[in-house]
Amino acid sequence: MCGIVGYIGTKEASGILLEGLRKLEYRGYDSAGIATVLEGEIHCVRAKGKLHNLEEKLVGETNPARLGIAHTRWATHGKPEEYNAHPHMDMAKRIAVIQNGIIENYRELREELKSRGCEFRSDTDTEVIPHLIAEELSKAEQVAEEPLIEAVRQVVRKLRGAFAIAVICADYPDELIVARQQAPVVLGFGEGEFYCASDTPALIPYTRAILNLENGELARMTPLGVEIYSFGGQRLKKAPRTLDVNPVMVEKQGFKHYMLKEIYEQPGVVRSCLEAYVNSAWTSADHKNSPIRFDLPQSWYRNLQHVQIVACGTSWHAGLVGKYLLEQLADVPTTIHYASEFRYAPAPLVPHTLTIGVTQSGETADTLAALEMEKARRDNKSEEFEARLLGITNRPESSLGQLVSNIIDTHAGIEIGVAATKTFVAQLMAFYALAIDIAFHRQTIAAQQIEALLTGLSQLPAQIELILESQERYIEELAHDFAETQDFIFLGRGINFPIALEGALKLKEISYIHAEGYPAGEMKHGPIALLDAKVPVVAIAMPGPVFEKVLSNAQEARARDARLIGVTPMDEQDAADTFDTLIPVPHIDEILSPILTVIPLQLLAYHIAARRGLDVDQPRNLAKSVTVE
Ligand code: M6R
Repeated sequence: MCGIVGYIGTKEASGILLEGLRKLEYRGYDSAGIATVLEGEIHCVRAKGKLHNLEEKLVGETNPARLGIAHTRWATHGKPEEYNAHPHMDMAKRIAVIQNGIIENYRELREELKSRGCEFRSDTDTEVIPHLIAEELSKAEQVAEEPLIEAVRQVVRKLRGAFAIAVICADYPDELIVARQQAPVVLGFGEGEFYCASDTPALIPYTRAILNLENGELARMTPLGVEIYSFGGQRLKKAPRTLDVNPVMVEKQGFKHYMLKEIYEQPGVVRSCLEAYVNSAWTSADHKNSPIRFDLPQSWYRNLQHVQIVACGTSWHAGLVGKYLLEQLADVPTTIHYASEFRYAPAPLVPHTLTIGVTQSGETADTLAALEMEKARRDNKSEEFEARLLGITNRPESSLGQLVSNIIDTHAGIEIGVAATKTFVAQLMAFYALAIDIAFHRQTIAAQQIEALLTGLSQLPAQIELILESQERYIEELAHDFAETQDFIFLGRGINFPIALEGALKLKEISYIHAEGYPAGEMKHGPIALLDAKVPVVAIAMPGPVFEKVLSNAQEARARDARLIGVTPMDEQDAADTFDTLIPVPHIDEILSPILTVIPLQLLAYHIAARRGLDVDQPRNLAKSVTVE
């Protein structure tokens, strides 16, 4: 959480920095601030709330500075007030620092600094950093050739936690220092100008030549180039790579919100996943080669006894669908864990286990920590217990990509809306392909069944298009009825239970309406007490083994006066008789249905939130990338 951006070069820094913040605002929007080096002084402006408040403060200001840093905050330590906004400065206001992450030992550092006469102006953990740098700088100036980076290097070695920082100093107007420890930061390379940012969208308008700083590394950026060092002080040789992204992908392209645009991108995302994952020439006569091009180590398929999935939020819901697929198609016992729980209470080691971390951003602190912990506890164990780690992510270049050597890229393109939509559908596609791949190697399902699944998957893009074309208007109208609703229940069973959870999460996070997802059969064990005419119930009812059961569960809700909305195939008479309102989806094999049933739920959440006049893309209290515990 929090977005950092920095610039050094030949152009006016402030415009580039503000544009960068615009692209990073999805990471947090409690406050924003900018600091530049101008005429030998640090010029710092900060504002509480969203970026436009900072922009308003800067209206009419001309600032020719060529060096600067800027920050958009998701508050951890200290309220979202201007005095807690970054950049933070040392006492003499010569050094300015921005940080993304948490400095875990800030209390003791703060006390030490105070005992040496330091006065603090904020409640943040970050403020210790400029004060410490000021102390170290006066020492480094006596001994070091490059005092500023040396001072920062000394300080980062004292910090505990996960952080990415950028530092400028009025006395070094040609230097921007950046450091990374467990929080993302990417460097951008231009002609005589250089950038740093928490994420690539801030850099894409200016350069495609990028370099991900790794944990324990510092960069000294000057108009002449970039030098990389380890925290130990060793100079490292690294070259930038070219990022393959189309700038159009990070614009709204005429949609009112990124979220709606991203919902509409889903047919294309499914097509991209199919192209990347499936060998279209495969037929059921081919018993030798998998229809899926994942290229996982062959040894992983042998003796596979257990899959464990770690993830958070929407990615956890995708993992829950994955569990169902891996068990039902590939016959592998699969467990799923909230990464935040798993990292402190891991399940006992099972031999021949595949561990899958699912994270669209590849930066979620808990998921990364759970995987690191799993790697560490399997280290030096016998072959049967060795770590087999697989990442499913939309950002292969992320920290996850650095941690795990086998990655499934979900090919969804950058997602800006804080509520995950297209990346969820892409994660589901990854799990379908993985389950088919493992099922093929373990021969747990017939080749004809694999062929049928692949045919079904190939029809999904057109079916999603049909839902979008035929239902969006209708769902927009329907949303009017719920603008004042306070509680919602979502029901599903089997493979659509995770979709009920996802529908509830989408509604909660962007409309602030209380919503719960339940396995439909569990309602009568307690939650049914919540129901009355004021609580709408959305039930996902797809023909299959539990179709009639879901309809019966829906009837039980109806008997308590709840308004019933059914996500169900067109022309299902029993469903039409059960529900007050129908949101039809195409007929499809139940096992493939989550990719269709989630679409109306995304649209419903979107239109209810939009109807309530809320900030759909940047809901309160949230950030897209949760890089702190
Ligand atoms: O980047 P990740 O997939 O690891 O993020 C996990 C969650 O923070 C994320 O899915 C969150 O729940 C979204 N806001 C859901 O829309």
